[in-house]
Formats: sequence, C-alpha cells, structure tokens
Amino acid sequence: MLWITEFSGFFSAALAVILLSPSLQSFSPAAAIRSSHLDAYFRPSPPPSSDHSLRNKFSYRKSPILRNAEECGFSGDVSGVCNPSYVHVAITLDVVYLRGSIAAVNSILQHSACPESIFFHFLVSESETSLENVIRSTFPRLNLKIYYFAPERVQSLIAPSVREALEQPLNYARNYLAELLEPCVDRVVYLDSDLVVIDDIAKLWETGLGPSTIGAPEYCHANFTSYFNGAFWSDDRYNETFKGRRKPCYFNTGVMVIDLKKWRSLEYTKAIEKWMEIQKVERIYELGSLPAYLLVFAGRVAPISHRWNQHGLGGDKVRGSCRDMHDGPVSLLHWSGSGKPLSRLDSKRPCPLDTLWEPYDLYLPVNSVQLH
Ligand SMILES: *[C@@H]1O[C@H](CO)[C@@H](O)[C@H](O)[C@H]1NC(C)=O
Ligand SMILES: *[C@@H]1O[C@H](CO)[C@@H](O)[C@H](O)[C@H]1NC(C)=O
Repeated sequence: MLWITEFSGFFSAALAVILLSPSLQSFSPAAAIRSSHLDAYFRPSPPPSSDHSLRNKFSYRKSPILRNAEECGFSGDVSGVCNPSYVHVAITLDVVYLRGSIAAVNSILQHSACPESIFFHFLVSESETSLENVIRSTFPRLNLKIYYFAPERVQSLIAPSVREALEQPLNYARNYLAELLEPCVDRVVYLDSDLVVIDDIAKLWETGLGPSTIGAPEYCHANFTSYFNGAFWSDDRYNETFKGRRKPCYFNTGVMVIDLKKWRSLEYTKAIEKWMEIQKVERIYELGSLPAYLLVFAGRVAPISHRWNQHGLGGDKVRGSCRDMHDGPVSLLHWSGSGKPLSRLDSKRPCPLDTLWEPYDLYLPVNSVQLH
C-alpha cells in the first residue's frame, strides 16, 4: 500500500482529468462489463513471426531477486510443490500476452512480504515451449512449474462460429486447474495476464471461502439476464438453473480464488464441460468462455472485496476510450477490455491509468539489448 501512497498525487491528477472530461465518464457499469469480454474474442495483434519470438527471448530484464522478510518463517526445501506453506498462483502464458504475464508476476513479487513462499503455475499452450526459457531467465529463482495445455481438450467443445473461431483454447485452461495441478495443491489463485497486483497476494490467498468452491468479486448491478439469450430463458430444461441459489450475479473469471479440493470432489470441470456441450448444439448464450462459469457458479460464489479486481481498465479499443477506477481501495488493477496498456504505451497514446502498469514492465526493446 506504500506504493499506492506514492502515487496518490497522480491519482488526484487522473481524477481531475476524468472529472473535467465528459468522454472519460461516459460508460455505464453494464457496458464496462460487456466490453470486458471482448478480449475473449480479439487478440491485440497477430502472433509474432518465429524470428521475432526468438529475439523476444532475450529482451526481458532480469527481475531483481527478492528475499522473504524475516517474519515469513518459510523453509523452502520441504517437499517441493507440496510444501504446505506455499501460496499457489496460476497464470496463463502465450506469445501474445507474455509481456503482460511477466509484468503480473513481477508485480506480485514486488508487493509480497514473502516472495520466496509463492509458487507459480504457468499454463502454456502446447506449441509454445520456448516461453519456459523466457520465464526462467527473467525470474531466475522463481518457484514454478509449467503445464502444457493441449488445445484438443477443449477444441471439440467450443461451438463453431465466426467469433469463437478467434477464441483461444488457452482461455479455457482455467477450467482444468484441478486436474493439471498436483493433488497436494488444495487452493490456487487464478489470475489473467492483463493485470498487476499492488498488494500482498497472500491476503487474497487467505480469503475465507465459507462453503463456496470459488471466491471472486461479484457485480450484482449488472443485468444478469442479458448473459443468456431467449433460447435459454424460454427453455424449461435450462431456465430454472439458478433456482435455489443466492441472487446470481456476474463475476469476472480473471481473478478467482479456487478451492481445488472441493472442485475435484464436486467435479466442476465436468459441470462446465456439460454446459459447453449444450451450448455447442443449442446456442443458449452469445459470449465465449464466461457463461458456462456463470451457469455453474453464479449465486454460489464467495464474494471477495472489489479491491481485488478493479476491472475494465482496458476500455474499448474501437472507440479508444479510457476507463476510470471504480470507487474504493485498490489491490489489483485489471486491464480487461479490448485495449491493453502495453500497446497504448508503445504507441505513445496511453490512458491515464496505463502509467500504473508501466513500472512492472520488464520488456527491453531490442535496440537497448544491443547497447548492453
Ligand atoms: C436485462 O436484459 C434483458 C435481456 O437482454 C432485457 O430484456 C431486460 O429488459 C433488461 N433489464 C433491465 C432492468 O435492464
Ligand atoms: C421457463 O420456460 C417455460 C417454457 O417456455 C416457461 O413456461 C416458464 O415461464 C419459464 N420460466 C422462467 C422462470 O422463465
């Protein structure tokens, strides 16, 4: 939180800009939420050529090696990944969002009192094995494991359509954490690649989930009905899905605390796949990977403080709009939406809040590598 204090002057300045500029104010929460799904369909740029990705290998600064504070009481040599003192974090890695994933990891380490007690689980699409080298050389002492996610696992479950043809199977990898991760790992924090954490991740990890299997900030003002179409709401096989639950609310699947033990025993992977199979045949919603999560978990989510997902900061690429923070304290900034801070910073047209992402960026432009 020290860090946020340093930036409070900046926040006031950003707020003043936002208050003075009506165009920056003009988004409704519902619109913000809807546009936050656009990343599921549109990637910011085509994957770089292999020549480019080869150069990428060498173009990240090494992260400084951070040590545990004395009060951590953590001994790293006990039983590897099964050490019960680890805080487990899962993040996806692919060529396009690599720079974002690296910034996310860097931000987590920078704000953790016990960085050596964090274990990272990276979900990588099978064809991109060289990413492991990039991660290992950027973070030389990181506790990590790489999992190659076979796209065939979900490809046959993704309904064919123009939009979903653009969707990457890796978006669905979070559904398989319970089986990918070792059975000794009982809990994991899942994070998207387009965010930075500016607080100690251990606080999020320790959140009580009560009887729930997953925890996430809930957004109950969003029009929940609109996530499913008429075919869903008028079909009596489906339209009572949420009966008997608490009020079902939208939540963002980019930040979740997951009790893997409960997930495994309640077989939620199968439950989500079942809805994907129904969707393939009946088309009960228009979005990609999110609605199946809502069908299984909405009204059953442990509500976590909104400070852990200030989402929607990516805004809408088409209109080039910038987004403001929601009210309240901030522990995690999430650039969901179709714009990304790295491309706006590179094109010298950043949104005010994009400069909060920049300090975590470890990318070195190729020219500066040659100079060193
Ligand atoms: C919510 O969305 C549904 C379907 O898109 C629409 O019919 C309904 O009028 C909306 N309700 C509100 C309160 O906006
Ligand atoms: C569910 O669908 C049936 C059949 O169309 C309809 O009669 C019923 O009113 C619907 N229920 C809800 C809660 O929308």
